[in-house]
Amino acid sequence: MKRFFCFLLVLLAGTGFGQNTGNLIPKPASFQVRPGQFVLRPNTILRVPSGSEEVIALAGTLADRLRAAGGPALKVQNRNQTLTPAHTITFVLVSDPALGAEGYRLDVQPDSITIEAARPAGFFYALQTLYQLMPPEIFGNQPSAVSSWAVPACRIEDRPRFAYRGLHLDVSRHFFSVSFVKKYLDLMAFHKLNTFHWHLTDDQGWRIEIKRYPKLTEIGSRRKETIIGHYYESDPQQFDGRPYGGFYTQEEIREVVRYARERYITVVPEIEMPGHAVAALAAYPELGCSGGPYEVATKWGIFSDVFCPYEKTFTFLQEVLTEVMDLFPGPYIHIGGDECPKASWKASPYCQALMRRLKLKNEQQLQSYFIGRIDRWVQSKGRKIIGWDEILEGGLSAGATVMSWRGTKGGITAARQGHDAIMTPGEFVYFDYYQSDPTQEPLAFGGFTPIGKTYSFEPVPEDLPAAVARRIIGAQANVWTEYIPTPEKVEYMVWPRAAALAEVVWTPREGKSWEDFSRRMRPHFRRLEAMGVRFSRAFFDVVAESTAATDGTVRVRLTAKDPETEIRYTLDGSEPTALSLLYAGLIHQNRTGPLKAVAVRNGTVVGEVQSWWFAGSKGTGKPVRLTTPAIKPAGVDPGLLTDGRYGYTTGYLADMRGIAQVRTADLEATIDLARVDTVRSVRIGLVRATAGNVRLPRQVEVAVSGDGRIFRTLKTVSMNPEERGRKEIVRPTLNFEPTPARFVRVTARNAGAGGWVAADEIEVN
Ligand code: ACM
Repeated sequence: MKRFFCFLLVLLAGTGFGQNTGNLIPKPASFQVRPGQFVLRPNTILRVPSGSEEVIALAGTLADRLRAAGGPALKVQNRNQTLTPAHTITFVLVSDPALGAEGYRLDVQPDSITIEAARPAGFFYALQTLYQLMPPEIFGNQPSAVSSWAVPACRIEDRPRFAYRGLHLDVSRHFFSVSFVKKYLDLMAFHKLNTFHWHLTDDQGWRIEIKRYPKLTEIGSRRKETIIGHYYESDPQQFDGRPYGGFYTQEEIREVVRYARERYITVVPEIEMPGHAVAALAAYPELGCSGGPYEVATKWGIFSDVFCPYEKTFTFLQEVLTEVMDLFPGPYIHIGGDECPKASWKASPYCQALMRRLKLKNEQQLQSYFIGRIDRWVQSKGRKIIGWDEILEGGLSAGATVMSWRGTKGGITAARQGHDAIMTPGEFVYFDYYQSDPTQEPLAFGGFTPIGKTYSFEPVPEDLPAAVARRIIGAQANVWTEYIPTPEKVEYMVWPRAAALAEVVWTPREGKSWEDFSRRMRPHFRRLEAMGVRFSRAFFDVVAESTAATDGTVRVRLTAKDPETEIRYTLDGSEPTALSLLYAGLIHQNRTGPLKAVAVRNGTVVGEVQSWWFAGSKGTGKPVRLTTPAIKPAGVDPGLLTDGRYGYTTGYLADMRGIAQVRTADLEATIDLARVDTVRSVRIGLVRATAGNVRLPRQVEVAVSGDGRIFRTLKTVSMNPEERGRKEIVRPTLNFEPTPARFVRVTARNAGAGGWVAADEIEVN
């Protein structure tokens, strides 16, 4: 029954009902709806041009896919055969510069489908589009209950906006199997992404077999254990005590490269240098300035031990890259270049002498020399390097392509200097960032990149001259895996955000529309489901925004991105269901308690339950003054201490939200209740994150005043700033005799030693 219902919806969607895009992702450059539909049947013939093995093979993949999904068996026929069957899918190789290397035309009529392309990649992308025009079951690998494999009649003309359409995967921090990587490539190809950036080496593991240097994998692919939770989560940091490792043999690498090529994906291997090299140094300590010993890193971050620019280091790297180039036939070798601390070079007599000999002014120039040597050598082998935007520092090497991750500035600078650039700015396309409310999500690196933010990314700034804009060859999303230990979580972090990325890099700028994309999301989810992708449903998440009213209530507005869902909520802590209270406008919360909400569609819960605490009190919405202004976040409005919403500490400490931090000084907040009121208690949220020197105060004190000048202390409690453990927000309540007051002053006394006091909500009752 459910299947049938889904199918009906697909039929409606598939006929172009209510829209004109066929629900395709990425949206094609042009799409025209036509009347009728083409129904695949057992006598449908695939007609292919003679002499093109590649196109014949591609036609075969269409037949294979249909068979795998339980569709009709199609026959492949050479087009030179004179017979002209009535019901055909014809592949036509055309010589048409307008189609470029990857473009295609797809003409679906009730009795025929014609696909035109100038190159095989074009046919491949036409097939990806054709699959999306079919019922989503086409993406499954078992016979389905679909009774009619219909394709809506339409005419599509399509080609990508950018030549470089990338997705990255870090397999160093966590290792992923060949079979998982293949599924990753399948998903990329399905979304018309064409470059897989494989981050193969880093401090926490070397993951590619190099025959000449066997210790790289014998030693460098294994770490003795892994940090638990976030970097500052626990004090002392906790480790799991479990050895961790993995690497790809050269045979496996070749298999992945072959698999990718069959999907028109180029693999760009990344071998990090001169930084992020601790795993290599653990294997070959003589390549580090101090000579070691080094240990494969067990926690995340940036390490000061890096490759030392000895001659033997260049020999080593060239021999490694020789094997890498043999495995990866693509034009690019990514050599990293990011986050290379200069301390070990500063302390090295060898480096200092080298700098004098080369007349280098500083260590940035030494890094530039390092990258320049590798660049020239790689170019001499007929390949090109890509490096992270740090390679601009100290002078950019002649043949280098810049991958801009610290915003788009580096990419623009490189493009202005006549270099190619690939945009991969953190705030838009780092898929290790949170994609929904961080208080509701599984652990992530930090940041906040919901799918709409990714969708809004524009790789080419408007004001760039055309000659410079042409240098921006594309964009890519990065998937760093410090906090992504499993295949399930990779898929959760990547999908559907990478579908938004696909549209950023494929669809013409003027063809993009968030509203339209949002509408295409739900049908797209059915395709991902059919493929067995464990994607995030954050798209359905209810978002809570709040404002504090001065009458002590918090006004909470709930919204959902999917316009066809309704919102159900509870205020008693119970799990909301399709039968809970229906959200119909602002919720007025005048006490402290939980609010839980979920999106519901057609009587069925479609998202995850979201749960927040809001705190209405006499202090809510009242003006607050901090005697010593908070310096983190810089210039923060102290009103966040009475905004009626609890803050959070997920991610790195820099990502704390709704929290005001002072350093060295006491945190002293004075709330003006605007009139004399009776107060009985004060509760204050205080962060303990001792790994980051955020400590509980040694004492909290409440004082009141009628005039704001003369204060009377009502209550003092001691706390233990030495207390260590897991990062958390502690919320002590100070009760006292009912007292009339207009001003309430809360002082959290800093324990000193350069520590921070960090305060969340102050509730006055
Ligand atoms: C990077 O994220 N360090 C390139």
